[in-house]
Amino acid sequence: MTLLSVEHIDVAYGDVQVINDLSLTVEEGEVVSIIGGNGAGKSTLLKTISGLMAPSAGAIFFRGEPIHNLPPERIVERGIVHVPEGRRLFSLMTVAENLLIGAYTPRAHKERGNTLRQVHALLPRLLEREGQMAMTLSGGEQQMVAIGRGLMALPGLLMLDEPSLGLAPILVKSIFDTLRKIADTGTTVLLVEQDVNHSLRLSDRGYVLEHGRVALAGEAAQLLENPHIKSAYLGI
Ligand SMILES: Nc1ncnc2c1ncn2[C@@H]1O[C@H](COP(=O)(O)OP(=O)(O)OP(=O)(O)O)[C@@H](O)[C@H]1O
Ligand SMILES: [Mg+2]
Repeated sequence: MTLLSVEHIDVAYGDVQVINDLSLTVEEGEVVSIIGGNGAGKSTLLKTISGLMAPSAGAIFFRGEPIHNLPPERIVERGIVHVPEGRRLFSLMTVAENLLIGAYTPRAHKERGNTLRQVHALLPRLLEREGQMAMTLSGGEQQMVAIGRGLMALPGLLMLDEPSLGLAPILVKSIFDTLRKIADTGTTVLLVEQDVNHSLRLSDRGYVLEHGRVALAGEAAQLLENPHIKSAYLGI
C-alpha cells in the first residue's frame, strides 16, 4: 500500500522556488532515501511533508488522504514524525524528559510507558543516561535521543534529516545499525542523508534530488551501481 504520495509539488521561500514539480512515493514498510548535495532541497521537502512549509502547487497524500493543507500538529497526529536536522533537543532537560516530550499526541501519550521500554531496548545508552541533561551528551548520544524522541510519537512514517551529520565514523555506523533495527520492526522510514553509501545500503529505494528536482530514482541497489551516483556522491 502506498503510505505517502507527494505529487508535483512546488515549494518556495518568498520568490525563490527551491522545489520544482517534485513527485515521490513511499510504500508501507519501505526505507526510502533522499540524496543530493547541499541546497538541493532535501530539508525543504521534509519540512513540506510535515507541514512546516506549504507547497505553492501540487498535493501530498498520506494513507490516501490529502495532508498538504493541514497544520503540523494534525500531521503528527496522523503519524508522520520528523526528526529535524541538527537534533533540536531541550538542552536543559534530561534524556528521559526529552524522550517523553515526543509522546505528546493523545495516542502516543497513552502508550508512552510501553514505547519508552521499547526505545530503551533499542537504545540502551538512553536508559543509562536517563537522568543526564541533554546538553552534556555527546553528539552521537544526542542523535540517539532525537531518534528515540521521534519513536516516542509512534510514527507511521519516520522522517529523519541527516541523522549521521557531524558524527565520527564509528558513531555513523551505530546510527545506521539503529535505523536498520527500526526498519526491521516494520516502521516505514524516509531518510535524508549525505552519507549516500550507508543510506542506500539501508534502503529499498532512493531518489536523487538536484536543484529541487528528482534527477534520478530507483531501487537502492541499482543506484549504488549507477555511474553518475558513483562519481558525484560516492567519490568512486
Ligand atoms: N528559511 C529559508 N529562507 C530562504 N531560503 C532558504 C531557507 N531555507 C532554505 N533555503 C534555501 O533553499 C534551498 C534548499 O535548502 P534545503 O535546506 O532544503 O537544502 P538541503 O538539500 O537540505 O541542503 P543541506 O544538504 O545543506 O542540508 C537552498 O538554496 C537554501 O539556501
Ligand atoms: Mg538539509
